[in-house]
Amino acid sequence: MKPRIYLDNNATTPTDTRVIDAMMPYYTEKFGNAASRNHSFGWEAEEAVENARKAIANELNCRSREIVFTSGATESVNLAIKGYCERDRQRGKHIVTQVTEHKAVLDTSSELEKRGWEVTYMPVRKDGLVDFDELTYVIREDTVLVSIMHANNEIGTVNDITAMGKLCRDRDVRFFVDAAQSFGKLDVDVDSMNIDMLAASGHKIYGPKGIGFLYVRQRNPKVELKLQVDGGGHERGMRSGTLPVPLIIGLAEATRLCAEERQSETERLKQMRDSLLEKVTSDLPDTIVNGSLEHRLPHNINFSFPDVEGEALLMELESIACSSGSACTSATLKPSYVMKALGHSEEVAHSSIRIAFGRMNRDEDGELAAKEIINAVRSLRGKSPFHRMKRV
Ligand SMILES: Cc1ncc(COP(=O)(O)O)c(C=O)c1O
Repeated sequence: MKPRIYLDNNATTPTDTRVIDAMMPYYTEKFGNAASRNHSFGWEAEEAVENARKAIANELNCRSREIVFTSGATESVNLAIKGYCERDRQRGKHIVTQVTEHKAVLDTSSELEKRGWEVTYMPVRKDGLVDFDELTYVIREDTVLVSIMHANNEIGTVNDITAMGKLCRDRDVRFFVDAAQSFGKLDVDVDSMNIDMLAASGHKIYGPKGIGFLYVRQRNPKVELKLQVDGGGHERGMRSGTLPVPLIIGLAEATRLCAEERQSETERLKQMRDSLLEKVTSDLPDTIVNGSLEHRLPHNINFSFPDVEGEALLMELESIACSSGSACTSATLKPSYVMKALGHSEEVAHSSIRIAFGRMNRDEDGELAAKEIINAVRSLRGKSPFHRMKRV
């Protein structure tokens, strides 16, 4: 098998070796339980956890006690949405989200529908962004929560969270942001953005898998949640379970490295992405870029190639690992619901691929990817009678 260059960093990232180095002592000599109050093993672990919490809080401009460690963004999303809605069933029973959210949000919302809540799923514009005016319109008297993602995992589009946060604050509706794709990569300030809850995940930022956090605002206004995991009352009663100290240390170190390197990494990866895009679109002028190019994660591109099937294209790409925009099930190939939400036909939706560059990629990876994509699209089109007929 040929070496694969990894260009699927929105799915997950490799753990940075500097992160692993920071974690290792907490598996061995510093293995204490952070909840053990009677000896120095416990105190040492607790101190490390609290320092980690502080490092993450600094990145968000919030207080340490507002960070709740979880197993990842999916759990954080569940705790935020179910926890907030179920804390007080007497409030209104309407929540707002949008159709291109990650399944973590969509499935949690649909579970709440089964439990008696009403959910409005807003459409997105052709460029993949949430329409601010639409949001103004759909918030009602009985709306308790608005849940909007910061950056989309498939097309990389970045919503105007600051404007939406202000709207929610003005309407006295709590605002939850799924920041799994943006935390560590874009500036996030929960105060100036009026965010009440925010979910993020370690494995998207070169940290370990199995760790994430939920930011929960504790003042102006204080957000209270119904806990979803009963037990020993860890995390100030919001999420029980012995803390995975090495993973927490890894998450904090990953956060610190992202902050330290963000500016240079953003420029480097954007240049790589733009150069790939330039090469592909100049050789294949009918390429369709999915989602706004302006409001987009710097390392991401998602494009479609008319008359080329995305899954076939991926098979043809021998040395790069990226993903199609399609959600694949064993029996059927369904086009991505995100792509469909942009108003694309089934054909275009089926022909999309996502490239997400990351910290480990070098310029030559982008150059190779461009070459392979161009050659693969040409080769597949050469074999397509439909494409040949169109050219006659
Ligand atoms: C936008 C978004 N939200 C939530 C998740 C779920 O994150 P985790 O894998 O940490 O549960 C992901 C992961 O792909 C994501 O991209």
